[in-house]
Amino acid sequence: MRIGLLTGGGDCPGLNAVIRAAVRTGVRDHGDEFIGYRHGWRGVLEGERQPLTLDTTRGLLGRGGTILGTSRTNPMGSDDGVDRVRATLQADGIDALIAIGGDDTLGVAGALGAHGIHAVGVPKTIDNDLSATDVTFGFQTAVQVATDAIDRLHTTAESHDRVMVVEVMGRHAGWIALHAGIAGGAHVVLVPEEPFDVNDVCALIDSRHRRGANFSIVVVAEGATPRDGTMTVQTGDVDAFGHVRLGGIANVLGIEIERRTGFETRVTILGHVLRGGTPTAYDRVLATRFGVAAIAAVHDGDFGTMVALRGTAIERVPIAAAVGRPKTVDAELLAVARAVSG
Ligand code: F6P
Repeated sequence: MRIGLLTGGGDCPGLNAVIRAAVRTGVRDHGDEFIGYRHGWRGVLEGERQPLTLDTTRGLLGRGGTILGTSRTNPMGSDDGVDRVRATLQADGIDALIAIGGDDTLGVAGALGAHGIHAVGVPKTIDNDLSATDVTFGFQTAVQVATDAIDRLHTTAESHDRVMVVEVMGRHAGWIALHAGIAGGAHVVLVPEEPFDVNDVCALIDSRHRRGANFSIVVVAEGATPRDGTMTVQTGDVDAFGHVRLGGIANVLGIEIERRTGFETRVTILGHVLRGGTPTAYDRVLATRFGVAAIAAVHDGDFGTMVALRGTAIERVPIAAAVGRPKTVDAELLAVARAVSG
């Protein structure tokens, strides 16, 4: 078969491992040929291609980013988008497309099914907020990077008697904040799922310090909002899918904490550091399993599906079940964070 591959949305450690696994198993087991489309859906619209062979995908397992490049281009955003996608795929003789992405990229892959385009999805996002899969690759790496950073912030916070506010990615869901907060021993964890009261945050820090602690670590997801809705920091820019660019809630929170508690406070925004660099062993294995499973789905003609991790098994789910509604953190995990924080 001739298979097209693309990576869309924010990059994520493990993307290259999926590409490598898909090409290896496709070429070796089925004699498939691959075309990589550059920069997500933009490459399909514009006909930007790059050959994917055993040779060009060698050495990718531990490499961060995506050799295909990525973008947030939305082909559904223009009247002739579907026709242009179809024209490129027909010109290239593509039998099936493997789309590796998050909610937006996979949403397009699912919608194209109604237009006769054969697509299989692979779930990607460091945020781990995609429904219908227990875990997305890239998440575990982001948690590890955030945890390492929190560990380092502990020692400098303790040395200087400071409050450290650490902002991590997580637009709709606080998976990274919660996992890294628990793993890093944070004293306060703030997530988008539960609007926070800055008075409670300051009261908790105050009481800790009155009990003898000389420092505090606050982990805040970028999408966390204060209860009264006054502290969200947004640039106002929106992408092709209508998402506002976030980042900066920690700065406002840090100023508020210092002003209200009197404790010297510093802010660290981890941002894109969480997305860069080499994937952890766990993410390499998960990405590889997804790549192999995507090729199996293509050869079974199981289009409109996404490969997913359910429990310990890789399964196929309808793309429609994965997109449109973020998978938010569960109450049990929130309760664990609450039980050990403070
Ligand atoms: O991939 C999702 C994400 O990590 C969000 O948490 C974050 O808001 C977004 O990417 C930022 O990505 P970019 O700066 O590339 O638009």
